Amino acid sequence: MMEELISRALEARSRAYAPYSRFQVGAALRCEGVVHSGCNVENAAYPLGTCAEGGAISAMILAGGRRIEEIVIVGGGDQPCTPCGGCRQKLREFGLPDLKVHMISPAGILLLTRTLAELLPDAFGPDNLE
Ligand code: THU
Repeated sequence: MMEELISRALEARSRAYAPYSRFQVGAALRCEGVVHSGCNVENAAYPLGTCAEGGAISAMILAGGRRIEEIVIVGGGDQPCTPCGGCRQKLREFGLPDLKVHMISPAGILLLTRTLAELLPDAFGPDNLE
């Protein structure tokens, strides 16, 4: 399953629309055994660009999923593409604190794994509104 997540994240990255930053990102997540993926989609009006993680979450929701069980993110270069602050909060909406977030290189090599709790400690989430 990790291999499928990696290949789908790389495939998604290859379809990224990033003419402004030239930083292509792909993300692939697993939900109930199904993989959903997304890429970043930039816009000439810069703040309107969307992240790869958000695209993968949208695909999961469209398919009726609600729980992210594992996610792989791939950016460019040797540094792990850690999710931006906004994406960490989006992951919290559908992921438990022990959600594993894997960051890989464009060559498909695992660079870093963090739990969501490590990336977003003491997170505000759906539980806070119960
Ligand atoms: N980006 C993502 O898609 N996900 C991240 O976690 C970090 C950043 C995108 C947004 C923008 O299109 C480009 O990378 C440069 O910031």
